[in-house]
Amino acid sequence: MATSITLNTGARMPLVGLGTWKSTPGQVEEAVKAAILAGYRHIDGAYVYENEKEVGAAVHAMINQKVVKREDLFIVSKLWCTFHERHLVRGACEKTLSDLNLPYLDLYLVHLPVGFQPGDNLFPFDTEGQAIPDKSNFLDTWEEMEKLVDAGLVKAIGISNFNHFQIEAILNKPGLKYKPAINQVECHPYLTQVRLINYCHSKGIAVTAYSPLGSPDRPWAKPGDPSLLDDPNIKAIADKHKKSPAQVLIRFHIERNVVVIPKSANAKRIKENFQVFDFKLSPQEMQTILSFNRNWRTCPFEWATKHKDYPLNAEY
Ligand code: A2P
Repeated sequence: MATSITLNTGARMPLVGLGTWKSTPGQVEEAVKAAILAGYRHIDGAYVYENEKEVGAAVHAMINQKVVKREDLFIVSKLWCTFHERHLVRGACEKTLSDLNLPYLDLYLVHLPVGFQPGDNLFPFDTEGQAIPDKSNFLDTWEEMEKLVDAGLVKAIGISNFNHFQIEAILNKPGLKYKPAINQVECHPYLTQVRLINYCHSKGIAVTAYSPLGSPDRPWAKPGDPSLLDDPNIKAIADKHKKSPAQVLIRFHIERNVVVIPKSANAKRIKENFQVFDFKLSPQEMQTILSFNRNWRTCPFEWATKHKDYPLNAEY
C-alpha cells in the first residue's frame, strides 16, 4: 500500500504528516518526537504557528539519536502573510530555517494568497477587524519563492488556500519557472473539495488536506458547530472496519491520493492516526462519505474577506 506520492519535482512526499497548528511550544517537541518514533516522516509547520524552534529541537533529537536521518524526513513550512513583499520573502524563509536549525526545507508554501502590512504584528487589523493589505501581489511573491529553490533553501515550493483562479494566474504567469508542487487546503467529509482537487490533479499539482478531523480545538469553535469526530455515519463506517472515526477521516484522503496532516499533541492519538495503511475504504464507502459534503469550513478567514485576494468567494 503506497505511503507516499510523487510531486511534480520528482520528490516523494509521505501521504500522512503530523500537523502542528495549535500545538503549543510546550507540547510540540514531544508530539514531533512521538510522531517520528511512530513512523511519521512528514512534519507540517508554519512560521505563524510560533513553535518552529521546538519542532526543530525535536527533529534534531531524533536525528542525534539515530532514529532518522535528515534525508528521510519531509519538513514543510509556510511564508506568513506579512512577508509577501518581494524584499521580505528570503528573510522570512531564512528565519524559519534558523528557528528549525536546518539548512533546507522539503517544501515551503505561500500560507495564503493575501498579503498583510509588514511588521512585527502578524495580524495587522483595522478597526473593523479586517487585515490591512500590503503592496504585494502573489505573482511577484511567487517569483521570490522560485528564487528560494535556486538558492538551495527549499527543495520545492507550493501554495495554500489558493482558489483555482489564483492557481491559474500562477500557471499563466509569463516566465513561470516552477509550478506549485502542492496546494494545501482545508478538506474533510463536510468540505470535500471535489472540483478543486480535480483541478489541481489535472495540472500536476498535489493537494494536502488540513483540518482533516474538523479541527475541534480551533480557538473560534462554537457549541453546536458540526463535529466530524462525533458523526454517527462516520462512526458506523469506522465500526465496520474496527477502526476509529479519526482513522476513517484520515484514510478518506489516502484513497483520493491526497496528503493529510492530522494534528495531535497526544502520543496515543499520534500513533492511532498513523495506523491507516492496514485497511481500505471501498468505492461505495468513499461515495457515501463524499455525500456528507456541506461546504462547511473550520477556517473561513473572516479577517480577510475584504482583501482583494481573499480566496474563498470563488466556487472552487
Ligand atoms: P489532541 O491534540 O489532544 O490529540 P485537526 O487535525 O483537524 O486540526 O484536528 C486536531 C484536533 O483533533 C485536536 O483537538 C486533537 O486533539 C484531536 N485529535 C487528534 N487525533 C485524534 C484522534 N485520533 N481521536 C480524537 N481526537 C483527535
